[in-house]
Amino acid sequence: MKLFTVGPVACPPEVLEEMKRQMFSHRSKEYKEVHRQTVERLQRFLETENQVFLFPSSGSGVMEATVRNCVERKMLCCISGAFGKRYAQVGESNGKEVERLETMLGKPTTPELLDEKLSSSPDVEAVAITYNETSVGLLNPLPELAKVVKKHGKLLFVDAVSAMGGVELKVDEWGIDVCFTSSQKCFGIPPGLAVASVSEDALKQSERAKDKGWYFDFKLYEKYQKEQSSTHMTPPVPQILALNKELGVIETEGGKQKRFELYSKRIRKIKEGVEGLGLSLFPQKGYESPTVTCVNAPKEISGLEVYERMRERGFELAKGYGELKERTFRIGNMGYIPLEYVDEMLQALADLVK
Ligand SMILES: Cc1ncc(COP(=O)(O)O)c(C=O)c1O
Repeated sequence: MKLFTVGPVACPPEVLEEMKRQMFSHRSKEYKEVHRQTVERLQRFLETENQVFLFPSSGSGVMEATVRNCVERKMLCCISGAFGKRYAQVGESNGKEVERLETMLGKPTTPELLDEKLSSSPDVEAVAITYNETSVGLLNPLPELAKVVKKHGKLLFVDAVSAMGGVELKVDEWGIDVCFTSSQKCFGIPPGLAVASVSEDALKQSERAKDKGWYFDFKLYEKYQKEQSSTHMTPPVPQILALNKELGVIETEGGKQKRFELYSKRIRKIKEGVEGLGLSLFPQKGYESPTVTCVNAPKEISGLEVYERMRERGFELAKGYGELKERTFRIGNMGYIPLEYVDEMLQALADLVK
């Protein structure tokens, strides 16, 4: 099966090879070296001097961590799909008051809307933005939104789960306080690890936070990282080895720009191929995601049927999400996808649509 999934995605051969290594303790010299190197590589990748922590969880764990460490009372969630909604639920289930700024499915959060919302809700402490909304294949205009958040002096949490590794992220320049992803997306690592950059302002907030729990306490991550180049619990060592390996490959193969060029090349091929078959994309023009193409199903067959029939032909795409299950299907552009697989997948889709 050739994977065009939206996570977990196919892993590059070097990642799978690295994960076969024998284990060592997370208190050993070997681990500390890998941990230090991974963190430094992530800092370079994200263009940040903030600390970057490694979490033994998926990305949703970091959503919970931001809420528990950095929000005392109230936050604003920008919602343009299922994962923005999840952030709001995470906030509320942790006892926080959540303001919502929700757009119609397929439409981005705009700087104007955000500015208006923050002007009328000056008491929110932090703003959560989903950079790439995987459920609808939409990329929000993060650099412009970040400027608005900073103008209002709020903390900024960025869910970059389906963006980091495939799209540019300039954490310091854009003023992102917490920026996180899961391993099973663009970095092409098996699930079980999340990474997040955490700013000084976010750490100060964590210092004051009450009832933030132990497992996701940013101050404990900071302490163990500074003092031991490790974590306060047992981390997912194979995933960290694999991520370190992959970041090293990115650096030696021409840096992150080269990686982003590969993503752009693949997504262009996918979009042009799909549109060439007379199909249209779900999100508003100009905001299509570079990592997930959400396609309106043809009139004759549902999105679910496209998904099933492509599976029979050896290609695992992704189903439409939630209420879009029948109306759309999605084609992932994350992880290990050689360019020739894209041609093969488009040929199979063409046969199906015809
Ligand atoms: C944009 C986005 N945010 C959050 C999540 C949740 O991440 P995880 O499944 O790693 O907890 C996902 C998962 O697909 C996602 O695409």
